[in-house]
Amino acid sequence: MPDRPWWQTGVIYQIAVPSFADSNGDGWGDLRGIIERLDHLAGTDSSLGIDAIWLSPINVTPFGDFGYDVADYRTIDPRFGTMADLQDLLVACHDRGVRVMMDLVLNHTSEAHPWFTQSRSSRDNHKRDWYVWRDGRPHRRPPNEWLAVVEGSAWQYDHATGQYYYHAFLPFQPDLNWRNPEVRHEMLDVARFWLEKGVDGFRLDLVNFLYEDERLRDNPRRRFAVRPYLAQRHVHDASQPESLKAAADLRRVADEFSERALMGEVFTDRPEDCVAYLGDGADRLHLSFYLEFVRQRWSAEGFRNAVQWLEDHLPGCGWPCYYLDNHDLVRSYTRLGGWSADARARVAATMLLTLRGTPIVYYGQELGMVQSRIPRGRMRDPVGRRFWPLPVGRDGARTPMQWSGDTGAGFSTAEPWLPVDRSYRKRNVAIEDADPGSLLSWYRQLLRARRDHPALREGSLRMIGGAPRHVFAYTRECEVERMAVLLNFSGCEKVVRLPEATRSWSPLLSTAGRAQPCGSACTLAPHEALILEVCSRSAWVPTAPVSGPSRLARCRRA
Ligand code: GLC
Repeated sequence: MPDRPWWQTGVIYQIAVPSFADSNGDGWGDLRGIIERLDHLAGTDSSLGIDAIWLSPINVTPFGDFGYDVADYRTIDPRFGTMADLQDLLVACHDRGVRVMMDLVLNHTSEAHPWFTQSRSSRDNHKRDWYVWRDGRPHRRPPNEWLAVVEGSAWQYDHATGQYYYHAFLPFQPDLNWRNPEVRHEMLDVARFWLEKGVDGFRLDLVNFLYEDERLRDNPRRRFAVRPYLAQRHVHDASQPESLKAAADLRRVADEFSERALMGEVFTDRPEDCVAYLGDGADRLHLSFYLEFVRQRWSAEGFRNAVQWLEDHLPGCGWPCYYLDNHDLVRSYTRLGGWSADARARVAATMLLTLRGTPIVYYGQELGMVQSRIPRGRMRDPVGRRFWPLPVGRDGARTPMQWSGDTGAGFSTAEPWLPVDRSYRKRNVAIEDADPGSLLSWYRQLLRARRDHPALREGSLRMIGGAPRHVFAYTRECEVERMAVLLNFSGCEKVVRLPEATRSWSPLLSTAGRAQPCGSACTLAPHEALILEVCSRSAWVPTAPVSGPSRLARCRRA
């Protein structure tokens, strides 16, 4: 089996730094806290066994949007630690074979960034053109009809200089003008700065938003949409060809260093955009987020179609990347869970960790942390506060990690920046650690299976045809082994015909505790997640893979 790079074989664990572990008792998670909790992640027999962490933004920030409002790109916010702490974290992680990815917010800064303070100070300030300033239209109308992702015009009038500035997200997050060569140069240099510090890569925030149409053309409209932003087809304010070029420039910077990876948040309702950012797999981003996957409801058919679409449309050497949770989404345990949340969480975890691609696990997902209800007075998320009482706030997915049943859930000895969810007494690392039947134990078993079985990490993927409704079934296969993954999304038994009647499919992992090999068919228990392996090599003849290894030779870079 040829060696694949870590960002293809590994599992990435997303850490919301403010919420993971507080080492100094100020109520905020910090870098030292992560170092103290590394055993949970990797390096010991009872660790999860992840391969990389992705840290939410840690740069200096007024924290108006969870750190996605940067006020200094080259300094770490004191609430999260110091540069020395980051260096220690890098050493501690690398010692355990764990890579460290940072979040890089390239599209916009905070309005508190000195660049913006200068830019807004006068029309002829030398930083004026670092942001997107335009005159309004007559009758106090903004320059065009573009909307901010969070609603309302994407233009904010600035009285001091009588012009509007553009903000794709919130008004306190002015967009940088990537058409200005100084901005481009500076932002590539910011990336280089952190790579030189030893960071292994970046998650690129809103990477397809870097450029807007130069002529500010209005977006075409859709007839029906649940909210105004969705009533526009975002062909002029997002996903411009120049942003693809910026992705290629960033890739060249990453390639100045060895084994670094770029993972892009491509925020779009067109899955084609997601694959476009991969280029031919070697000239743009290494990974890009595939929103179709995360938009699925609890449906075997929905997930299967989303995966098949990506497999069919990935460029030559592109590699999939899947996630079910992040800091912007309602936690999957709550979102997908329904009445059988625990059983579904196991099925979902099995799918996430056995599909062909790089999985991202969000902190607490392995415990089954739920979406928390945050009282209005404790809300931090600007989106939640703005739209209250609509349940669109993101704080509920960002509550402190539940380490133990102690006060503060073992996260902090002080009042945490967001309240701990009340489920923490029953659902925490300490309790689940000691319970072989817990969701945490299931995650560990899945991660171990990935480590032990190259077919699960790197093998080709083939859908098992003719699977009954509500069952998502596929095989993973490489030169040395063949596995089948059968996922029953329903609360009823389901019979699945296995691809070859070898009578030698033996269970590797089953949520139903199955021990007997399956023959030509297998009856799944309600909500069973089952991984089978062909136990005897002579029992199968490798088939031509539909994806994966066959393309490897071409994808190997000199
Ligand atoms: C991304 C982040 C989100 C943030 C937004 C603006 O979508 O994931 O949390 O609010 O960008 O930076």
